[in-house]
Amino acid sequence: MSRDKVFATRQLPSATLERLSAHCELEVWEDFMPPDYEVILRKVGQLSGLISLLTDRIDAQLMDAGPGLKVISNMAVGYDNIDVAAANERGIPVGNTPGVLTETTADFAFALLMAVARRIPEAKQYIQAGKWRTWHPTVLSGQDIYGATLGIVGCGRIGKAMARRAAGFNMRLLVNSLEDADEISAIGGDKVSLDELLRESDFVSLHVPLTDDTYHLIGKDELAAMKPSSMLINTARGGVVDPAALYEALRDGEILAAGLDVTEPEPIALDDPLLSLDNCLVAPHIASASVATRSKMAEMAADNLIAGLAGQPLPTCVNPEVY
Ligand code: DGY
Repeated sequence: MSRDKVFATRQLPSATLERLSAHCELEVWEDFMPPDYEVILRKVGQLSGLISLLTDRIDAQLMDAGPGLKVISNMAVGYDNIDVAAANERGIPVGNTPGVLTETTADFAFALLMAVARRIPEAKQYIQAGKWRTWHPTVLSGQDIYGATLGIVGCGRIGKAMARRAAGFNMRLLVNSLEDADEISAIGGDKVSLDELLRESDFVSLHVPLTDDTYHLIGKDELAAMKPSSMLINTARGGVVDPAALYEALRDGEILAAGLDVTEPEPIALDDPLLSLDNCLVAPHIASASVATRSKMAEMAADNLIAGLAGQPLPTCVNPEVY
């Protein structure tokens, strides 16, 4: 009996690859850079399963070219790279990796918050530029985190993990999300409108998925509503923030600083004006990048893939309606 063919669009930990190989004929894309869309398109006709990353566009055309596809397993919690409606129409289950990256991502969101508030990257540049000549009362003064107001936009798993960290810093918590007010008060927050959150928060941290509704959720008007002393943290998706509006707001002092783990587009162009600003810290989409968490994500992606090949429900399925 011929074995199911599976393509993984990037190298995975060796233990995960070994496990997968016991269930299918596995081809792994070995390059550091992702395969082009056309490469996946050419291969998909032979495939029963696909392990994709957030860098791979998986659309209706690609699904139509793979009539044998039993499962698409995305090694990410976010799945805005996949046309889930198209997968639904074709009855293809799509897996993701929720939960395992929650705390790691929230750690990084809080790290970004602290780094921009206390100007840590600027401090390193200051020393490297030979400017540290004495202790000075005002040099590199930042903003206090302890006791400040944190606005969380989107209070799913990662937003709630962020709220837990804020509690340790005695922060006042404002939340704009779909959860009801009781659930928000159970985590020590007040449910407020986005407008109130933007006006009152010292830090605004974004934790919504990228959808048609959240695309450029934070634009010119929203940034103008924020306090001049406030900071924006984005570990969600770059498309949630209008980058041109953010650049102007940072340049013109409408807000004080930003910490971004995600950009639009990714990777950010080296000549992107945001990179020219001292008050904008940009990281290369690494919030979930701890060794342990990335291994767990790969294992979850393998669990979904193996279940899908066997015709069983995926342990973490984004479109259970296909069953
Ligand atoms: C995800 O899993 O969606 C994250 O963005 C990866 O860090």
